[in-house]
Amino acid sequence: MNSRQRMLAALYSQPLDRPPVWFMRQAGRTLPEYRALRQKHDFLSVMKQPELTCEVTLQPLRRFDLDAAILFSDILNIPEAMGQTLSYPPGGPRLGPVIETFEDVVALRPVVPQRDLAYVGESLGILRRELGDDKALLGFAGAPFTLACYMVEGAGTRRFSKIKPFLTCQPKAAALLLERLADVVIAHLRYQLESGADAVQLFDTWAGELSAHDYARFVQPINERILAEVSEVGPVLLYLRNGSHLFEQSLDCAARGFALDWRVDLAAAAKRLRGLEHAPCLQGNLDPITLFAPPPEIRDAVKAMHQAVAGNCGHIMNLGHGLVPDTPLAGIEAFVQAVLDLDTAL
Ligand code: CP3
Repeated sequence: MNSRQRMLAALYSQPLDRPPVWFMRQAGRTLPEYRALRQKHDFLSVMKQPELTCEVTLQPLRRFDLDAAILFSDILNIPEAMGQTLSYPPGGPRLGPVIETFEDVVALRPVVPQRDLAYVGESLGILRRELGDDKALLGFAGAPFTLACYMVEGAGTRRFSKIKPFLTCQPKAAALLLERLADVVIAHLRYQLESGADAVQLFDTWAGELSAHDYARFVQPINERILAEVSEVGPVLLYLRNGSHLFEQSLDCAARGFALDWRVDLAAAAKRLRGLEHAPCLQGNLDPITLFAPPPEIRDAVKAMHQAVAGNCGHIMNLGHGLVPDTPLAGIEAFVQAVLDLDTAL
């Protein structure tokens, strides 16, 4: 069984030799060779020049025995294609001018990924050829609510003091923004699957900041539409960061799998999925900071995750959120090696 077959088998909860492994945010952030490349090229150039994009995407696979590559890109390329100005100053991404009114939403440009995000398709095509049939290739997009957070706040936020009132006080503008984003996200994820990605992940990084009730009324139907329409073309993983309170209500959707963060009890989640007709899988869910611990502790944590899933559903080994920038490489190596050493027969 090669890496690509292993990844697909896990996604469809089919039997496999051991769980596949990859890391959210494996491309960029932690590797010295990425930082060296970033000395010479700014972030947007790396994202938009396929040669650089492919190099950064492949860097983690040269160092570690990973089963999947994830395209080096960013979720904020969609707001940029819709007309906002995007920059990455040291404090984190900035978008402007911010969305404040219904008219601002109407004025956003329609996006045709094949035309406006062609660099993504081109990079995936090159990567597919480079990886051949051996390794899985993953694409992704931000979910509408997470994108709307950046578009309305203009930057990352801890308090969500613009986007949350926007949802409740300007419901027509908010609904239109989320629907327009959903249209682009669907087209973009389908484009990625058609360009060579084996699966895609929908990142709703800020969904967990909403109550279960607000998620259900403002966001969930939109995510469900995306999952249904993209699943016609290929498998989709849904990641709701900080979303343990949203897990149960999220199950009835077309996602092929759920990427969990470490606040969710993996054993309980796996038991819950057992026997579901469409056999979704789980991904995750180690606290990324565990990789700062000594290797034996990391090995134990990997074994514990494997035992928690206990064969109840497909399982993709990963963290509960992205690698943090200064993660020790020895911690990443220990995680991967522990997965390679797993004995699947529990
Ligand atoms: O997983 C991967 O390795 C693929 C590449 C990837 C990036 N961003 C590269 C990146 C992915 C999947 C993303 C997704 C993303 N981007 C999310 C959702 C996932 C998550 O982690 O919650 C969000 C919220 C963003 C927005 C964003 N882009 C932020 C908040 C930042 C700044 C802080 C940081 O380092 O993440 C970025 C910039 C960014 N995107 C970098 C990278 C490697 C760092 C840029 C640099 O080199 O300085």
